[in-house]
Amino acid sequence: SSTPLKVAVTGAAGQIGYSLLFRLASGALGDRPIELRLLEIEPALKALEGVVMELDDCAFPGLAGVKIGSDPNEIFDGVNLALLVGARPRGPGMERGDLLSANGAIFTAQGKALNAVAADDVRIGVTGNPANTNALIAMTNAPDIPRERFSALTRLDHNRAISQLAAKTGTPVTEIKKMTIWGNHSATQYPDLFHAEIAGKNAAEVINDQAWVEDYFIPTVAKRGAAIIDARGASSAASAASATCNAARDWLNGTPADDWVSMAVVSDGSYGVPEGLISSFPVTTSNGDWSIVQGLEIDDFSRAKIDASTAELAEERQAVTELGLI
Ligand code: NAI
Repeated sequence: SSTPLKVAVTGAAGQIGYSLLFRLASGALGDRPIELRLLEIEPALKALEGVVMELDDCAFPGLAGVKIGSDPNEIFDGVNLALLVGARPRGPGMERGDLLSANGAIFTAQGKALNAVAADDVRIGVTGNPANTNALIAMTNAPDIPRERFSALTRLDHNRAISQLAAKTGTPVTEIKKMTIWGNHSATQYPDLFHAEIAGKNAAEVINDQAWVEDYFIPTVAKRGAAIIDARGASSAASAASATCNAARDWLNGTPADDWVSMAVVSDGSYGVPEGLISSFPVTTSNGDWSIVQGLEIDDFSRAKIDASTAELAEERQAVTELGLI
């Protein structure tokens, strides 16, 4: 269809936004033209105007229009895709509860606005941290939107895991398939290569080095964000934007028959993940819908890792429940 896809991006004047908007406008989601709806807080609107000047100056053929503002009810009106990137970072002296409350306020309001004004076919991807719990808050505050329309981003972790395997084995990233990130987008996440394939062979068998998996691969993927802050003096933004695009594209357009992706989606109890948590799973997508890959064997090592990460998600859910956010 040549009707533009209406894509909302929140936190559009931030670091990720500065990369994400240009990727979206240059066709990262596919050939269909897009209209951008950019949400920011009032004090950031002037900076956002500057970013829009740059978008104009790229003369992107696929960019059908840009609208900016600070009212989610206006910006989300009729959107088909909402990428919720803006969030409140942890400030000095801020307790975990303060962080959850500050983000809770943002994602409560945005969930309600999406519920009221988004298009019937809306898909919502949450990148802003704590992404899984922010998605849970938005989902709970949007009772008229099917729960399957919400997801949180673990695609960056998924891509990081592929990149580490490719480097270790000297294999092109295109030969690495069926990677899985389980659980929370946090240091407890479990990057699982036991079902992954390298050029059609089981990755764990190709690597054949459990110590590398436990002592290098898993912590390197899980702590990559901190390593980038250390090196760059700023958090990973371009790679987060790239992963946000990959996740949205695959959600809308489908995954290839011989592969899957990682997405944090609402649990139906699969693999013992408590029902209702937004937890990362291996998923396939088709026509804008995802389904959790079933029937994978989970050994004791993987079981313990998945349980640890989902226990953290359950604690976050408990905390936001006590704060009255869901
Ligand atoms: P940033 O601080 O540069 O930008 C965030 C923007 O959000 C700011 O411009 C701010 O004004 C805006 N904002 C705050 N409250 C808002 C609201 N209520 N409505 C609209 N906009 C609002 O941060 P950056 O680097 O762009 O990262 C954004 C988020 O993405 C952070 O929470 C970060 O932790 C998270 N992140 C998630 C990753 C993932 O893999 N899931 C990877 C990297 C970052």
